[in-house]
Amino acid sequence: MSISRASIEQITLAADLVGLIGEYTNLKKKGANWESCCPFHEEKSPSFKVNPAKGIYKCFGCGKGGDAISFVMDIESMGYVEALRFLAKKYNITLEESATDLKEEQNKQSEKEALQIVMNFAQEFFKNNLTETEEGKSIGLSYFKERGLRSDIIESFGLGYALNEWDGLMKEAEKRKHNPDLLEKAGLILKNEETHKTYDRFRGRVTFPILNVSGKVIAFGARMLGNDKNQPKYINSPESLLYDKSSALYGLYQARQAIRVADMCYLTEGYMDVIAMHQAGVGNTVASSGTSLTEGQIKLVGRFTQNLTLLYDGDKAGIKASLRGIDLIVAAGLNVRAVVLPDGHDPDSYAKAFGASALDEFLKSHTQDFISFKAGLAAEEAAADPFKKAESIDSILETISLVSDVIKRSVFITEASRLFKMSEEAMTESLNTRIYEKLRKPKPRTEQFNSNVQATEIPETTLTREFEEQKTIIYELEKEIVRILILHGHKTIEDDYLIANYVFEQLAEIQFKTDSLKKLVEEYSERLDFGEEMKPEHFFHHSDELLKRLVIDMCSPFQEKIMKYTERSFEEYADLDEQNVSKSLYSNILQLKKQNLLKDIEALKLKLDSEENIDDELLVLAEIHEKKKIEIELSKELGSVLNQF
Ligand code: CTP
Ligand code: MN
Repeated sequence: MSISRASIEQITLAADLVGLIGEYTNLKKKGANWESCCPFHEEKSPSFKVNPAKGIYKCFGCGKGGDAISFVMDIESMGYVEALRFLAKKYNITLEESATDLKEEQNKQSEKEALQIVMNFAQEFFKNNLTETEEGKSIGLSYFKERGLRSDIIESFGLGYALNEWDGLMKEAEKRKHNPDLLEKAGLILKNEETHKTYDRFRGRVTFPILNVSGKVIAFGARMLGNDKNQPKYINSPESLLYDKSSALYGLYQARQAIRVADMCYLTEGYMDVIAMHQAGVGNTVASSGTSLTEGQIKLVGRFTQNLTLLYDGDKAGIKASLRGIDLIVAAGLNVRAVVLPDGHDPDSYAKAFGASALDEFLKSHTQDFISFKAGLAAEEAAADPFKKAESIDSILETISLVSDVIKRSVFITEASRLFKMSEEAMTESLNTRIYEKLRKPKPRTEQFNSNVQATEIPETTLTREFEEQKTIIYELEKEIVRILILHGHKTIEDDYLIANYVFEQLAEIQFKTDSLKKLVEEYSERLDFGEEMKPEHFFHHSDELLKRLVIDMCSPFQEKIMKYTERSFEEYADLDEQNVSKSLYSNILQLKKQNLLKDIEALKLKLDSEENIDDELLVLAEIHEKKKIEIELSKELGSVLNQF
């Protein structure tokens, strides 16, 4: 699929960012920018900024930022192409697509439509079987009645019955001239690989249609009747052009209104849970039936509410699913709570045993935030095995470390420290270590079991560690450049030229190797783009605790280490006027380039030692030679700069 560059540019030009974003948040004009509370995370004071002149937005709280296309992708949970189409439609732009792609897309579109037609047919067929055939009435309908389902619920969930025949659906489809290939693609019929004979997928089962957000039938779940141990309890449709398991939620179509009103959504495991909850009057319930919860499903609910409550069985598997769900939801930035029904009850059995209002009552009074939920589990386990406590604290810290909002994080830490009777400082320290490690290594860590137990050192440990591991010239130089940027970036040199802009110009071809420093530089440049006046104080009070400590540490007036590389005394250095700041910057940047080159050369030499291939060797030698030449040039330049001090 490709949409022409020209079309994309046309969309970017046409998109009125303030108008577009204004449909989702309450933007207020502030200078050249507009701002509001962020639509992607919860906050009380606005840190979400829109720069219409540049056509970009950025949230300085959660970090989300981009242009009109990325905004639509994020807020509407759309893919790139989908977002382009959305915007094109909104601004009346005809998309140019390359001819073959267009044809492919049209084919896909018409195949989707064709699949939808056979799905609708199957749904009508199953529904009709349930109420209009003897078999359906005596087996299917009576099963639902036995389970206490009301007629209005059977109707609103479109429940049905698949006849106990090999070709019930197929025969009816033939009569109505539906294409058997489509039936197979839709997963309604199966083909025997050897005999090539086809037969119905769902036979002698009650059917639960799975709908998409707009109420179209995209798949079925079918429950067996009776208890034949050799058969799966549920048979579900396979994935198709219409049905993507990981982004479908059972019951969402019926629940969406109630979810909006309650501003909360219950997440359960199965078809029957959803239906029982609806029948009991708790309509804001959906299920991730047939799969374990996915990020796509969470995003989908996130379009309706930020508040999710997990309602899983109290057995081992249910608890495990809850714990996994908690981490996923927290990481997606939504609020998560959990509730467990007593004595192996599920919503259906509980409502039946105690009544609908008792169920509602129980849910309201037993819903816990995820910390209390985890603490409760831990208390149970600790009673049996005291060593489990450390493990539980570890696990709660892991979950909290997934929360991106600093304020929320600190609220959770306070609560966790109260519930686990651990000092807040120790927990914060351990949490910061975790977050820090995550920042450094994108891959998840494996073992850090003792981090919370030995949490007695002061928080500086994380910084010290960065120091110890990276006490390299490159690290020192990067730090020095950021230090000058933060302390002097807002000052100007000749003709009102910002020192910060000078830094960014000079840094254009350099990739910082230290993640935290890179982050600071990026943030500085983004804020500058939004016309903020960059005072050093901002970084001294940075909302990210770790970055704040790093900044304070590196901007403290005892930076003698760096003097080695610039060969200036501290006194001389501290007195630098703006002109000298830029010179000093220049020399540091030259140094950094040189050091990066030396490192590259070193790596190439290592490669030479380890490889045997002669062709390759010559290439590598040439590369080393090239880099050495540049390095010599840099050294010359550097020498002349240093002489001017
Ligand atoms: N499930 C499935 N395939 C199975 C078993 C279960 O896809 N063989 C999915 C279904 O979506 C089901 C959910 O897992 O709804 C939960 O399973 P379970 O609790 O066994 O089913 P219920 O829907 O609660 O059905 P019932 O109350 O009739 O036992
Ligand atoms: Mn169940």
